[in-house]
Amino acid sequence: PVISALELGGVKIARDDVVRDDPTNNVPDTIFSKLGLQLHRRDQHPLGILKNTIYDYFDTNYSNKFDKFDELCPIVSVKQNFDDVLVPADHVSRSYNDTYYVDSQTVLRCHTSAHQAELLRKGHTHFLVTGDVYRRDSIDSTHYPVFHQMEGFRVFSPDEWEASGVDGTSFAAEDLKKCLEGLATHLFDPSGVLLYVDSVKISGAVEMRWVDTYFPFTNPSFELEIYFQEKWLEVLGCGVTEQEILKRNGKLNNVAWAFGLGLERLAMVLFDIPDIRLFWSNDERFTSQFSKGQLGIKFKTFSKYPPCYKDMSFWINESFTENNLCEVVRGIAGDLVEEVSLIDNFTNKKGMTSHCYRIAYRSMERSLTDEEINGLQMSVREQVQSKLNVVLR
Ligand code: PHE
Repeated sequence: PVISALELGGVKIARDDVVRDDPTNNVPDTIFSKLGLQLHRRDQHPLGILKNTIYDYFDTNYSNKFDKFDELCPIVSVKQNFDDVLVPADHVSRSYNDTYYVDSQTVLRCHTSAHQAELLRKGHTHFLVTGDVYRRDSIDSTHYPVFHQMEGFRVFSPDEWEASGVDGTSFAAEDLKKCLEGLATHLFDPSGVLLYVDSVKISGAVEMRWVDTYFPFTNPSFELEIYFQEKWLEVLGCGVTEQEILKRNGKLNNVAWAFGLGLERLAMVLFDIPDIRLFWSNDERFTSQFSKGQLGIKFKTFSKYPPCYKDMSFWINESFTENNLCEVVRGIAGDLVEEVSLIDNFTNKKGMTSHCYRIAYRSMERSLTDEEINGLQMSVREQVQSKLNVVLR
């Protein structure tokens, strides 16, 4: 069913306000239909179970000091999403290729950091913000254009670090890592034996590592990665908040840390969920396996249906991007598309560049017929030509 209006955070949004014939709008129906579903607020859903377990950790260790928000509207201003957290004017994340714009001044938030400034201004010093976030991206088992994040934010006052003898920034950085390592233990290994951070792999252990990185809103900045399905998976970004953000929002003499944690990826590791599309499944064989308060139940896949691969080659133009291709494919095949991968790429003597993409079609719920897949692939070929102006080979 096509939803025509929904209410978010007390604001009523008509579908026509969001998806209309407006060149500054790039929100397709597949994405609009996800607004308001709030998977993270379902106590029986893996994302809700995980959120609640993280809440428990903070409530227990910080005597209920963290204020919790999980209903803030995902439609935010460009200022909230980018300017307020010091994202430079020319940063790629602002592009129409990376972010969903409702209009030129309004986006679907691409991170929960969009709420830092307003909550600081309202006087909150310890808070957790959970919500759905939206990013244009490629398609594979760990990427989906809508996912869920939890933002954590903690402000320190001078007396908290002055007594320690180290400067505020080092104090906050150390406290942050301790807090998140404690959280990892709480989630993965309440017994405290099988978790390894920056250490040697021991069979059965969950292996993690800290990586230095860059965010416009924190310095220093770190990422925590977990080894899963033979790859290092980024599960959270964090760091010591830029002084400018505190200063602008009435916290001149303080320091703070912040983190942004990807709930799907953590849940995939914790519950053994092999594909990120499953979080959106209404199939009882998925939903019935989880229950309130039960973190880490291992998901049993209902028989994996075979994938079907279709290759497609075309000459690209200057405006071609993989994200646009993925949007077209998802617009047609929805969650029947499992992966889109570039398998060949060359430029001929005339300077024309050819890409070959392999599309993997697979339903999580049933086997697909050849007819159905051929129909999908035919539409993909048509729309790739008409919408992306590429020349099929
Ligand atoms: N907002 C960052 C992201 O989405 C994560 C982050 C949050 C990093 C807070 C640092 C501090 O990738």
